[in-house]
Amino acid sequence: MKSLKLVDPYNRHLNYLRISVTDRCNLGCIYCMPGGGCVPKLPHEEVLRYEEILRVVRVGVEMGITKVRVTGGEPLVRKGIYPFLHALSEIRGISDIALTTNAVMLKNHLREIRSAGIRRLNISVDALKPERYARITGRDAFQKVWDGVQEALAAGFSPVKLNVVVLRGVNEDELADMARLTFSLPLHIRFIEYMPMGEGPLRVDNPLLGEEILEKVGGGGRLLPVAAGEQDGPAVRYRFEGAVGEIGLIRPMSHHFCARCNRLRLTASGHLRPCLLSDRQEDVKGPLRSGCTDAQLADIFLNAVRFKPISHCLDKQAVKGRMSAIGG
Ligand code: GTP
Ligand code: 5AD
Ligand code: SF4
Repeated sequence: MKSLKLVDPYNRHLNYLRISVTDRCNLGCIYCMPGGGCVPKLPHEEVLRYEEILRVVRVGVEMGITKVRVTGGEPLVRKGIYPFLHALSEIRGISDIALTTNAVMLKNHLREIRSAGIRRLNISVDALKPERYARITGRDAFQKVWDGVQEALAAGFSPVKLNVVVLRGVNEDELADMARLTFSLPLHIRFIEYMPMGEGPLRVDNPLLGEEILEKVGGGGRLLPVAAGEQDGPAVRYRFEGAVGEIGLIRPMSHHFCARCNRLRLTASGHLRPCLLSDRQEDVKGPLRSGCTDAQLADIFLNAVRFKPISHCLDKQAVKGRMSAIGG
């Protein structure tokens, strides 16, 4: 095993790289792309090429990265994604590759995803009512997504996590129904506090936060806490008595988890970003395209790590970066 060189000034061990492979998406969710997806996209030449991403990942792995997540935008809309996932899986030293997707294109590609060694899927599903799903995402695609979820379970992906961004007045009345799905399906349903970021974010005056979310979710039965595992991400876990699946609460606004953050992000535009919610980032695309060495790339990693903030301050300072280009 490689020794971890990515330790920040607050002694956080950064072994998890999240890669946004594209800022494009086949949906336009109100919390992610206000304006229904009508936001300017990066020109193709500004997006990191696959071979460039793979080179950055190899350097990161040499420095101790062991866990990688592929996100977008929507990663499955990018041409060549399946060979890329395969190439990623061939990098020795990565013990966990996961994918975050909206599942619109998932159903017919599960085999390719699985053969790239991916076993864990996180899927965005913010409503169970098809008309509401269409209102949130701008596209009448609920059935396709739900088929994708069911087939992912049938194909043995585990865990399959569903991400639900909780929005007052939009999907709050469905939270208990969503949570109740865990009685019959081995899903992990994660309720996420909305993070207002990017230009022109959705305005939410009275956001629905932790305790109130839990009250609404808990209407479905008796919730028991699940002990945190060593590999756990930001979710606080629960299970209904007798359920086969789990509930998770992700509370970046009311109870941020920055003190145990282990993440770095590689954005679609080719920047290493030490914090989702802070705009400081290091350019890797420029150096890559002007012929830098791996040692120079390693220095860029170290610089990103050096400037990782102790925590976010989204309540005081807006973030310009867009979720779709950073990858959530
Ligand atoms: P796993 O535990 O590996 O499944 O990953 P995850 O929980 O990080 O997965 P996912 O990418 O699906 O993220 C779930 C939600 O948590 C998303 O809404 C993210 O925006 C949010 N989130 C993930 N990582 C961070 C982070 O580092 N900081 C903040 N503030 N939010 C995050
Ligand atoms: N606030 C909270 N979560 C968000 N996501 C995207 N935008 C936001 C936001 N503004 C979540 C989606 C997706 C995950 C990667 O990020 O649920 O599943
Ligand atoms: Fe890590 Fe920044 Fe997210 Fe906090 S806000 S958990 S420091 S990425």
